[in-house]
Amino acid sequence: MLTKQEWTADRRAGFAALLGRQRPGWSLEQPFYLDPTIYALERELWFPRQWIVMAHVSELPRRGDRIVRDLFGEEIIIVNAGTDGFHAFYNVCTHRGSRICRDETRTPNLVCPYHAWGFRLTGELLSGRDLPEGADKAELGLHRIGVREAGGLIFCGLDEESLPDLAPALDTLLPALRHHGFHNARIAERRSYPTSANWKLVLENFFECYHCRPSHPEYFRMNGHVAATAVSDEVAAAEWEGGVSAWREQAVAPALDRVVRHAGDIDEVKYSLYRQPIGLGRDTQSHDGKPIAPLMGDFTHYDGGETAMHLGRLSFAGCYNDHAVIFQFMPRGVEETNVVATWLVDADADPGTLDIGSLTFMWDVTTKQDKRIIEDNAAGVRSRAYRPGPYTALESQSASFVASYLEIMGRLVG
Ligand code: FES
Ligand code: FE
Repeated sequence: MLTKQEWTADRRAGFAALLGRQRPGWSLEQPFYLDPTIYALERELWFPRQWIVMAHVSELPRRGDRIVRDLFGEEIIIVNAGTDGFHAFYNVCTHRGSRICRDETRTPNLVCPYHAWGFRLTGELLSGRDLPEGADKAELGLHRIGVREAGGLIFCGLDEESLPDLAPALDTLLPALRHHGFHNARIAERRSYPTSANWKLVLENFFECYHCRPSHPEYFRMNGHVAATAVSDEVAAAEWEGGVSAWREQAVAPALDRVVRHAGDIDEVKYSLYRQPIGLGRDTQSHDGKPIAPLMGDFTHYDGGETAMHLGRLSFAGCYNDHAVIFQFMPRGVEETNVVATWLVDADADPGTLDIGSLTFMWDVTTKQDKRIIEDNAAGVRSRAYRPGPYTALESQSASFVASYLEIMGRLVG
């Protein structure tokens, strides 16, 4: 892997020129989607500064519970240290580098399987047999990564030093997470959709619904707001706006009404929150639109709303009255991105009666369709015939994502 230092002056100048000649409002040139050296630079500079939702607290409820995950090609351990909170580390021993946790067994300390060095759940070196004279235990604690628990979600980021402050984002997001009962939820289902495409193609697709009418017939049919956002039809848009206004009058969570904040700076976290009806006549995002699980959090009845949240640049949540879906976009290689969907329900939802097929229907069918269209997109981008093309007005969020990517990379490399 190339480090920032290995980017020689020539290479740097070449990359700066490539960044500078990208046409505003158009998709990127081929190397951004295919070149392993650009991916290596993103892995060195861009990914470590990103917060992403990595887990839900129900995955490690007791002191000593730990989980092992891949984060941007690094294996990490997330640990519940009881009253000391949650901690996260690279899964790398500070003796000679062995992986420390092979599995997710609960233990009072973390013990490396190679020579049995032991570490506290908070990362400090506890014991190492026959440590050389003068070895300073304080220098040999585990390599930390950033971790924050908020409203039941566990956020991680690789580089503690350069991660942006999460607090401003949480000021907006925490009341919504609490309202939706994330802290008292459990995971009903988790599915992975490995997608053979560069992570930017995956996000560009996720940020627009221009493709919803041709590519997501089920979603398009069942979610009325798509009619306003996916077609250039002023009448449909006006009718939908009328429906939204009427819905807002009776919505049970006015505190979650439209609050949209985007931060484009590298020192800030991208976050946003907005609330809208999912489709007139539908209570929730189940297959038939009917209630599927107990109401979550502070909801006392169904209002058919969805709270959509950007939780950093690589994780998102769609929250309904009786369940929520978290999406994680995990870059795994220059043309490999894992999309993970996790469905949450109230902790008291009865597993015996919960209809997983109905619960997962909408986002499972939609994410499989997205995998196919993104992989078709990636196949075309590999062709010698590929050239950047213009984003339409209905792809404005994809265009602004690309613009902010170019700006951030320019600053980080410069
Ligand atoms: Fe972990 Fe030796 S490498 S104890
Ligand atoms: Fe889609």
